Amino acid sequence: MATVLVTGANRGLGFEFVRQYAAAGWHVIACARRPPAATALAALAQASGGRVVIEPLDVLDHAGVDAAARRLEAQAIDVLLHCAGTMGRGSTRETGFPTNRFGELDYEDWDTIFRVNVAGPMKVTEAFVAHVARSTQKKIVALSSNLGSIASIRTGGIYAYRGSKAALNAVMKALAIDLARKHGIIVATVHPGWVHTDMGGPRADIDAPESVAGLVKVIDGLDAGKAGRFWRYDGTELPW
Ligand SMILES: NC(=O)c1ccc[n+]([C@@H]2O[C@H](COP(=O)([O-])OP(=O)(O)OC[C@H]3O[C@@H](n4cnc5c(N)ncnc54)[C@H](OP(=O)(O)O)[C@@H]3O)[C@@H](O)[C@H]2O)c1
Repeated sequence: MATVLVTGANRGLGFEFVRQYAAAGWHVIACARRPPAATALAALAQASGGRVVIEPLDVLDHAGVDAAARRLEAQAIDVLLHCAGTMGRGSTRETGFPTNRFGELDYEDWDTIFRVNVAGPMKVTEAFVAHVARSTQKKIVALSSNLGSIASIRTGGIYAYRGSKAALNAVMKALAIDLARKHGIIVATVHPGWVHTDMGGPRADIDAPESVAGLVKVIDGLDAGKAGRFWRYDGTELPW
């Protein structure tokens, strides 16, 4: 049975990945930063017949990430999926609109956005690389955003989030080179579309089940030739 570890599994796209991978018969390690509050996830785990297990993991807590990696020491992880992410305080969830406007920037918030969206996936990758290296599929996938595609920028604003996803893209591209060479691991970056979640808000284009169904296919189809590239949920490629 293949195993996937999903960060940010409490809600949104992470939760939907857990649902779809479990339904497809995968063993799912669903990571949430506050498991006692993850009631929908707990219900999903309980109904899964043991396929879904919940692990506490806050990507800002690096000692906690290392402890989770040690707890799962014997586990091979076929797909390490970085879903945890934030738009910060000026987000759709918090304010109904992604603010972060020039002249009103909050640099503490900026710092948190970069620590969650860039250092978070990096730290989780460092902690779990051995688990992925000993698996069969050997894949690491990060949820980025088309907002991080510099070549696609047509509108301004959303500076911190956009900058964090561009930085994530650069980090994942470099990791794709290093980890392919050292461990034969396939690293890729994906864009889920504009999705109706707390982050995407009510005006988004698509629902989480459609986005995740597409992304699962994209992840299934990843091979060495598709590593170090940026894929949309419908299988088309995005420019950096
Ligand atoms: N929705 C979209 O339209 C869209 C578009 C492009 C890219 N994305 C990317 O897709 C990913 C998932 O987005 P989403 O729409 O599902 O967002 P969401 O509904 O806001 O969910 C975000 C998830 O990340 C978790 N999280 C936040 N900070 C964390 C931390 N420090 N440690 C661990 N988990 C943390 C949250 O946990 P809690 O529940 O505990 O807060 C939650 O489970 C993100 O990386 C996002 O940037 C989304």
